Amino acid sequence: MPDSPSIETLRRQFDAELAQVAAEDDLRALRDRYLARKGGLVSSLLKAVATAPAAERPALGKLANEFKQAAEAAIAERQAAFDAARAPAGSVDVTLPGRRPAIGHRHPLTVVRDEVEAIFVRMGFSIVEGPEVEDDWHNFEALNMPPEHPARDMQDTLYLATPLPGAPAARDGGAPRRATLLRTHTSGMQIRYMEAHQPPVRIIAPGRVYRRDNLDPTHTPMFSQVEGLVVGEGISLADLKGTLFAWAREIFGRDTRVKFRPSFFPYTEPSAEMDVSCFACGGAGRQEDGSGCSVCKRTGWLEVLGCGMVHPALFEAVGYDAERYTGFAFGMGIERIAMLRYGVDDIRSFYENDRRFLEQFPL
Ligand code: DAH
Repeated sequence: MPDSPSIETLRRQFDAELAQVAAEDDLRALRDRYLARKGGLVSSLLKAVATAPAAERPALGKLANEFKQAAEAAIAERQAAFDAARAPAGSVDVTLPGRRPAIGHRHPLTVVRDEVEAIFVRMGFSIVEGPEVEDDWHNFEALNMPPEHPARDMQDTLYLATPLPGAPAARDGGAPRRATLLRTHTSGMQIRYMEAHQPPVRIIAPGRVYRRDNLDPTHTPMFSQVEGLVVGEGISLADLKGTLFAWAREIFGRDTRVKFRPSFFPYTEPSAEMDVSCFACGGAGRQEDGSGCSVCKRTGWLEVLGCGMVHPALFEAVGYDAERYTGFAFGMGIERIAMLRYGVDDIRSFYENDRRFLEQFPL
């Protein structure tokens, strides 16, 4: 038989349980437990009140009904709060953490190129750039490359089907040739610059070059070079060595040693290839644990550029006095330096635009 203290107790219990409700599911369970028409605690209470002695019935009935109304109102209020908190379909949840804006990266080839440029600029070089669509004269002829030179072959060089009209005609002894091509190296910039400027010359010329190569881990039909040219009175092989040694120590580290191997290029005499001591193994050819160095293939040396003293034929081609001036030139591949530097074993990675690759390099 219900009495007013037991109704009060039930009501306080309801209030306590309502305060514990955290989610809509909890509220639904609470409503069922108290207000379900069959078996709900409040419904049972009302039924029990009906059987109470007539004298107590009105007071108990009033108490029980007040409880029922209060419980219904409280539950409705919580339900309204849940409804209001629920985000409308398609709305933005402004409480989600923000997405960090992606910060752009310099491409690894740009990082290396910037660094190479900065070193030469500190040594007083100017940076010049020229056309990627080049003529036979600048790319080959004026660089003392005879007509039968293998690099001029269709097999190696990408020629335009129709030569551009303005191109100077190259004469291989006989008929003038106006071939237009995608430059195969940046060396043509030596000619372009000397045609337009008098000595002294101290330039580097970075840029893209093109060859008829198929893609493989060490070849791409387009890649990047940096050309260098110094011309003046009394420029000697010692200047070449000193300049390139200083450069090598800047880019590969203070302890770098260099070595010049005799080589051949039509535009330099003498010609050399410069090797630097391997920065990975310090020139030992093997790592501390005795295993072979994979960067230099156990040789202790890395081949990094071609160079030499400017061939007098170039001075004649551009109208410099070959008796008065001497100079040196060099050319290097940026991809190769980047591959050595960062341990990249496939040149194609530089051109695939895979952000997982690109984001591994310094900003
Ligand atoms: N042109 C050469 C190449 O593409 C690189 C080169 C070698 C440039 C010797 C030079 C040089 O200026 O003197 O492989």
